[in-house]
Order: sequence, then structure tokens, then C-alpha cells
Amino acid sequence: MILLWTIMIVFSFVYICIVFYIGYSLYAMISGAPFVPTSHKKVKRMLDLVDLKKHEKFIDLGSGDGRLVFAAAQKCDHATGVEISPMLHIISKLKKIKNKIKNATLIRDTLWNIDLKEYDVVSIYFIPHRMKKLKKKIKREMKPGSRIVSHAFTFPDWQDVAKDDTIYIYKV
Ligand SMILES: C[S@@+](CC[C@H](N)C(=O)[O-])C[C@H]1O[C@@H](n2cnc3c(N)ncnc32)[C@H](O)[C@@H]1O
Repeated sequence: MILLWTIMIVFSFVYICIVFYIGYSLYAMISGAPFVPTSHKKVKRMLDLVDLKKHEKFIDLGSGDGRLVFAAAQKCDHATGVEISPMLHIISKLKKIKNKIKNATLIRDTLWNIDLKEYDVVSIYFIPHRMKKLKKKIKREMKPGSRIVSHAFTFPDWQDVAKDDTIYIYKV
């Protein structure tokens, strides 16, 4: 009987996790982008190309498992990641604890609620139908001279200042 109850509880837990994961993936797709991680090689190239400096503050909008945030934290003063999916947020938090990373903050929220004015460098890996809205937010909130590194997607009517393969750099 106890075994049966244990099996039922485990199955219910797994089922709830799957439903949550699918629900948030669909929501993420509508409000931004689904989780498609950037390769570690590309992460390094993105941070090199945007020339992230020691004294700067960095944020990854839609931080997934936190790989860009943790790589940026090694180069700059402070790195932040905002992620809509609770599951990915927890995974990135666990990675932060495991690797004892002190200068990184992980926020569970939608990127549309984040004020970008304190950041020098923003990274994004987004989908085309949100780039226009994001461009308006960036231009409204970020200070002149701040930079954006975009993986795979370009902003409409905004000339990049540098480009390498599928990585684009923009300057406010
Ligand atoms: C293409 S993935 C990129 C993940 C990570 N930045 C990387 O390069 O490996 C996009 C991420 O954005 C998240 N996302 C989608 N819409 C979002 C929103 N409105 N606010 C915050 N995160 C969002 C997704 O859950 C997903 O993890």
C-alpha cells in the first residue's frame, strides 16, 4: 500500500512538472522566445565581440540555464539574468550555488518588468516579432553608449556597429 502511494505521489509530481514546463514554454514562446541555449563557444564570442569590461553591469534578457550570466560574471563587475520559466530559473540558481558565483543575480520575472537603465550591456536571443517592442524599451531606458549583443536576430531599422556570423552588436 505504501509503495502504491509512493508511486502515485512520484507520478503526480512528474506530471505536474511536465504540465508546468509545457505551460511556461508556450508562454515563453508567446511573450519572447522558447528555450534554445546558445553554445558555449558562441557565448564566449558574444562577450568578446561586445567587449564587456571589468567595471560594467551586464544583463541577459531570457537567461535560460544562466550560461551567459555566469560567463559574463567572470568578466565584469556584476551580471544579472532574468528568466520567465520557474524551472530554468531554479536550474540556474542551483548552478550558481554549485559554482559559488557571488557577483551574479538571477531574477524570476518577465523581462518587460525589468528597468534597463542601470545596465551597460544587454544580451538577447529573441524572436523577430518582439524585436521592435524591445528596441523601443532599450532606447527609452538605456543610457547613451550602452551596448546590446543579439544572437541570431536583428532590430528593425537599427544599424549594427559590429557583426560576426549570427552575432550582432548595437550601440544606444
Ligand atoms: C532562446 S532562449 C536563450 C537562453 C539563454 N539566453 C542562452 O542564450 O542560452 C530564450 C529564453 O528566454 C526566456 N523567455 C522568453 N520570454 C521571456 C520573457 N518575457 N521574460 C523573460 N524570459 C523570457 C525563455 O524561457 C528562454 O529561456
